[in-house]
Parts: sequence; structure tokens; C-alpha cells
Amino acid sequence: MKLLFTEEQEMMRKMVRDFAEKEIVPFIPMMEQGEFPREVIRKMGELGLMGIPIPEKYGGAGMDFISYILAINELSRVSATIGVILAVHTSVGTNPILYFGTEEQKNKYVPKLASGEYLGAFALTEPSAGSDAGSLKTRAVKAGDVYRLNGSKVFITNGGEADTYIVFASTNPAAGKRGISAFIVEKGTPGLMVGKDEHKMGLHGSRTVQLTFEDMRVPVENLLGKEGDGFKVAMANLDVGRIGIGAQALGIAEAALQCATAYATEREQFGKPISTQQGIGFKLADMATSVEAAKLLVYRAASLQAQGMNCGKEASMAKLFASRTAVDVAIEAVQVYGGYGYTTDYPVERYFRDAKVCEIYEGTSEIQRMVISKSL
Ligand code: CAA
Repeated sequence: MKLLFTEEQEMMRKMVRDFAEKEIVPFIPMMEQGEFPREVIRKMGELGLMGIPIPEKYGGAGMDFISYILAINELSRVSATIGVILAVHTSVGTNPILYFGTEEQKNKYVPKLASGEYLGAFALTEPSAGSDAGSLKTRAVKAGDVYRLNGSKVFITNGGEADTYIVFASTNPAAGKRGISAFIVEKGTPGLMVGKDEHKMGLHGSRTVQLTFEDMRVPVENLLGKEGDGFKVAMANLDVGRIGIGAQALGIAEAALQCATAYATEREQFGKPISTQQGIGFKLADMATSVEAAKLLVYRAASLQAQGMNCGKEASMAKLFASRTAVDVAIEAVQVYGGYGYTTDYPVERYFRDAKVCEIYEGTSEIQRMVISKSL
């Protein structure tokens, strides 16, 4: 079986590949120094990349889900930072409003998010509620025409840069997970405080912050779905989001494989290219096979989602396998480069650092195994 993409999807791939080479590559050193790529994101908005699968009615490009996944895959080959900014913005920053919002909420927020005028974020994780997301402690109490939110969130991707956050809080603690509600929170909402920026192993250009809510006043019209719907809003969007992280991991793995192959073909030791020596040749063969398998899983999950079918299990399988592949292939790419691979003169050490988080965010690999095993 060969993966076949439509002409439109191939055009998207080419457009994104050209954009990444021209506009993102020059920005990589700044991102590695911790600079958030605002200018790149602005240009992506102009090209329609910030709303690829969003219907034209709401200001998006109205393209299919596979095109969106192709874009994350291609961007991540060059920069996993840009890949995650887009994935979080779209899958869990914008889609919850599109899928669960009222017509007023959709008209108010989605066009701005889809055009890139607004950047989206998703605030579920708390200091004591990571994998067990349903145990969150942030509390929302209705008081007249606002909900007052108190609590804190950690590891919020795009936090500090975002214009809107999908925030999860309990409106009824006695009901446990069924008491969790989702809210659309705008930047500048009274009581919303952006805290510490995390200094991460990789993804240096993406911001990851803590948020604190001190009597944060969210208008009642910003409740997303009904009270108590929040956990389902989070889970349903994470199902789809995980395909995006699988595509990000695939992009990292492809980039690492491409570098390792090129280097092994040029580098000579013992009088011949190291690629022709079995120790390295077999390594490359295993790396290429894993990348191909990850690609099939990611695009199979994407194709189910594009057809409107349930894809929770397949999304988890794609993320689980692609993220492990990214880590393994990046580690082996460093090994192929030897001492050079351990320096920042070559990109493989960056792939190695960026890959690891794919096994952690949007549900750790252990959580993916829980989702998969439950569905068997
Ligand atoms: N879609 C819709 N509803 C779902 C669902 C899904 N995929 N999965 C569960 N639900 C519903 C269930 O039907 C159930 O509903 P009822 O109470 O009405 O029956 C309810 O949610 C609770 O389900 P479970 O009892 O199965 O839930 P659980 O507590 O066992 O948790 C879990 C399931 C899969 C482990 C979940 O907690 C989970 O995914 N944890 C990981 C959290 C996570 O992925 N965090 C990522 C943070 S965001 C991020 O990382 C973004 C970034 O920055 C990159």
C-alpha cells in the first residue's frame, strides 16, 4: 500500500515545505535562544496556515484534516517548535470552540483564531493533575453574570502569547469529572496572571508557562458547552490533538533520518562511506522502517478523522508509535554523527532534545497505552 495524497494535499505540502525553508530556517537560531517566533506566526496567518481545517464560513482555509496534518508534519521537519505552536493553536485552542461553542462564540472567536490574529491555548493540566486530568482542583463559582475562577495551571503551551485560553475548572466538585466545565478565557481577563516561563530541554522557541487565576472573572456567556461537559470537551479534542503530535514526532524523525543518511553517505572511515558499513547501514535501515511505520499510523488516524469516524484508539497508537520513533531515530542520528552529533553545529542534537516531549504532552505514552488497552 502506498500513501496517496490528492493534488490539493500535495500542493499544501509543497507550499509549507517552501515556506519552512525560506521563512523558518533563518529564525531557528533565535528560537534556540528562547525567542518566540511571532513574525513566523504572523506570516503563517497570512498564508492561511493558522486555520487550515477550519470551515471558510468561520474564516478558515476550509481544507481537509489530512492537509492540516501534512502541514504540521512538514513544519516539524524544520522546526518542532513551530509544529507544536500550530498543533496546540488549532487542535485544542480553536477546535473546542468550533465543536462545542454556540453560534455567537464561534462567530466571535473562530475567525480571529483561524486568521492568526489570535493565538489559542489550552489550560487543562495542574500542578497535581497531569495524567489524571479529571482530578483538577481549579474551581469556578457562578456569581451573577460571571464565573469566578480560582486555581492554577502548569505547562501551558502558547501561554503568555495566547489571546484565548480554553480553561477547565470544576463547577461542581462533588460530581468529580462530571462536574468539570470548560470556559473561553480572553487575554487580559481580570484575575488572569501569567507566571513562570519553563526552561525546557527542547522546543526553546515555544513558550510554556504557569497560569494563576485569582478570582478571575469570566462572563457567563464564555462557558463552553454546558456545565459539566468540560471533561468530554477536553477528551474529545485531545483525541484529535494527538494525531497532530504524532505528525510533529513524525516530522522530527524524518528530519533526523534525512540528516543521518546524508551524513553517513559522505563521511568516510576505514576507506569507505560509513553508510556502506553494516553497523551504520543496518541502523539506517531500522530508522527508515520505523519512520515508514509511523507515517502509516499517523496518516491512517488522520484519514479516519477526515472521514468523521471515531479515531481515539488510532490517534493514541499513532502518537505512541511516532513519538517513540522520533526519540529512537533522533538518538541514532546523533550516534551516526558521532562526536559531531553531540555539538550544536549540527541539528541532530536539537531533534534529540525536541523529540522527548512528544512522549509526554497531550497524554504520556503510558496514557496512550491506557486508551488503547481500554479500547481492545
Ligand atoms: N471522548 C469523549 N468523552 C470521553 C473520552 C473521549 N475520548 N474519554 C473519556 N470520555 C468520557 C467518558 O465517556 C466518561 O464519561 P461518563 O462519566 O459520562 O461516563 C468520562 O469522560 C470519564 O472517562 P474515564 O472514566 O475513562 O476517564 P479517566 O479519568 O479514566 O481518564 C484518561 C481517562 C484517558 C486517562 C484521561 O484522563 C487522559 O487523557 N489523561 C491525560 C491528560 C492529557 O492528555 N493531558 C494533556 C494536556 S494538554 C497538552 O499537553 C497540550 C500541550 O501543551 C501540547
